[in-house]
Amino acid sequence: MSLFFFLLLWFYVSHALPPPRGFYLNCGSSSPTKLNEINYTPDQEFITVGNTTTIKQKDLLPILSTLRYFPDKSSRKHCYNFLVAENSKYLVRTTYYYGNFDGKNNPPVFDQIVGGTKWSVVNTTEDYAKGQSSYYEIIVGVPGKRLSVCLAKNANTVSSPFISALDVQSLENPMYNSTDLGLYKLSLIARNSFGGDGEMISYPDDQYNRLWQPFSDQKLTTLTSKSSIKPSDFWNIPPSKAFVEGFTATKGKPLELLWPPFPLPATRYYIALYFQDNRSPSPSSWRAFDVSINGVSFSRNLNVSTNGVMVYSGQWPLSDQTKITLTPAKDASMEAVINAGEVFQVIPLGGTTNIIDATALEDLLESIKEPPVDWSGDPCLPLANSWTGVTCSKEKITRVISLNLTNRGLSGSLSPTINTMTALKDLWMGKNKLTGPIPDLSPMTKLETLHLEDNQFSGAIPESLAQLPNLRTLSLKNNRFQGTIPIALLQKKGLTIQASPENMPSTNTTGQIRVANN
Ligand SMILES: *[C@@H]1O[C@H](CO)[C@@H](O)[C@H](O)[C@H]1NC(C)=O
Ligand SMILES: *[C@@H]1O[C@H](CO)[C@@H](O)[C@H](O)[C@H]1NC(C)=O
Ligand SMILES: *[C@@H]1O[C@H](CO)[C@@H](O)[C@H](O)[C@H]1NC(C)=O
Ligand SMILES: *[C@@H]1O[C@H](CO)[C@@H](O)[C@H](O)[C@H]1NC(C)=O
Ligand SMILES: *[C@@H]1O[C@H](CO)[C@@H](O)[C@H](O)[C@H]1NC(C)=O
Ligand SMILES: *[C@@H]1O[C@H](CO)[C@@H](O)[C@H](O)[C@H]1NC(C)=O
Repeated sequence: MSLFFFLLLWFYVSHALPPPRGFYLNCGSSSPTKLNEINYTPDQEFITVGNTTTIKQKDLLPILSTLRYFPDKSSRKHCYNFLVAENSKYLVRTTYYYGNFDGKNNPPVFDQIVGGTKWSVVNTTEDYAKGQSSYYEIIVGVPGKRLSVCLAKNANTVSSPFISALDVQSLENPMYNSTDLGLYKLSLIARNSFGGDGEMISYPDDQYNRLWQPFSDQKLTTLTSKSSIKPSDFWNIPPSKAFVEGFTATKGKPLELLWPPFPLPATRYYIALYFQDNRSPSPSSWRAFDVSINGVSFSRNLNVSTNGVMVYSGQWPLSDQTKITLTPAKDASMEAVINAGEVFQVIPLGGTTNIIDATALEDLLESIKEPPVDWSGDPCLPLANSWTGVTCSKEKITRVISLNLTNRGLSGSLSPTINTMTALKDLWMGKNKLTGPIPDLSPMTKLETLHLEDNQFSGAIPESLAQLPNLRTLSLKNNRFQGTIPIALLQKKGLTIQASPENMPSTNTTGQIRVANN
């Protein structure tokens, strides 16, 4: 996927506007900084892993001069976590400037993940070679209260993933609402203001801090608008500044625009195009035209007034180079015009983790000390980046089927709600320093193997384990259990029990009990 970059120099503005709503993190920094009137804060409140460093290069924007990187190779993902409003919509922007922070002269390539969905590969090589930073944007719906943004190694990652800045910008309900964000995410391909010659539009011109890159085309005529539109007339609330300039064509000729200016992978895209008649309202001449994309009709008889208009498609197939053609209506007296456009790749959601399983793991995370450092973000998804020790099913609503934290140096105890993970087949917690009783596991009817050996569990060995229909291995050696193994367990068919001598019935001191299948 292509990248978009901005120059290291940013223009400064001074308007007295309310600050935008969201989180703006200057990753790896220890003090706040300001960019475009937005306060960027240090990031350590939102992440517990990674190391920080400063790039020694003059004239760098403050948000690019520090970064957080993740040298831990065993970690399956490295996550930022945000508490957000329920059922809300956010624009997430990640910014990367490598700056040879690791002295390897080779920017790492890695994955970025939002919620449980793999978002994209991050490859800043080309931008870095040009002395530019890279950024990526995605629009996401958050059904619950948690939003996580994670980086992870992939097959091509040879050094530490890193991040320079992270924006989580709140959006209004009508924005991009033709896409069901409960099913899809929108990953930015291009957002351009046409005919502009240098200045990027951002906050405060765009109150949602979207970046509108200027886009010029020598073959097209640029025009400038006298009037200004009302952003709230449009569902996407575009900045009026994006309409100030636009492209037009020679009289009577169709306007042809090769945009986005690079080939695209064949898939579905959200496309929004913005138009405005730049003249004073006229009763006798109008800008009326058809819009087609790669020869397919996109919008017919568009009659563009001074108030402006947006046309969009939520799922439009594109591949390779895109050509937008505006053909003036037969009786139109004026040429066609186009002012701005946005294209997003439509990314299906990667599924969701069963909420009860996710909650049970969150409870466990609270009750054990020193859990694996990657126990953050979505516990199951993407499946290749589940929490260490957690294995999940391939269903659309995925379930935890195995939990294996053998020999991880854990202390603390097992939370009682672990028994709500009713799809779990294997629970392996051996060789740790866990204390407290074995919770009631009787609802876990799928459980086949239970390993609690070499810990400091105490209390009685629950008789209710005998009710687990599929349990075949029960390993309890070297704990502090009181009393002997209940008879019902000893008599359970097909169950192999390993226990310490002190918990054996008096007739059996071998340390192993095998109850054979008759
Ligand atoms: C990263 O930080 C950890 C913990 O603070 C430290 O042990 C480790 O040495 C650091 N790694 C590097 C490469 O600086
Ligand atoms: C990263 O991008 C560079 C420059 O476009 C390319 O040569 C390289 O193959 C990419 N790396 C990976 C792992 O995709
Ligand atoms: C999107 O928002 C607009 C403005 O609130 C509303 O009129 C429209 O019906 C919404 N569309 C969808 C698909 O929800
Ligand atoms: C465009 O709109 C104007 C004003 O509403 C109308 O008079 C005109 O007929 C329309 N032109 C076309 C081609 O639809
Ligand atoms: C759990 O992890 C241990 C240690 O890594 C391994 O020996 C064991 O086979 C694993 N159990 C399962 C069910 O995968
Ligand atoms: C005691 O252990 C032996 C083998 O170690 C086994 O054959 C026997 O069935 C056990 N006794 C009881 C009562 O489970």
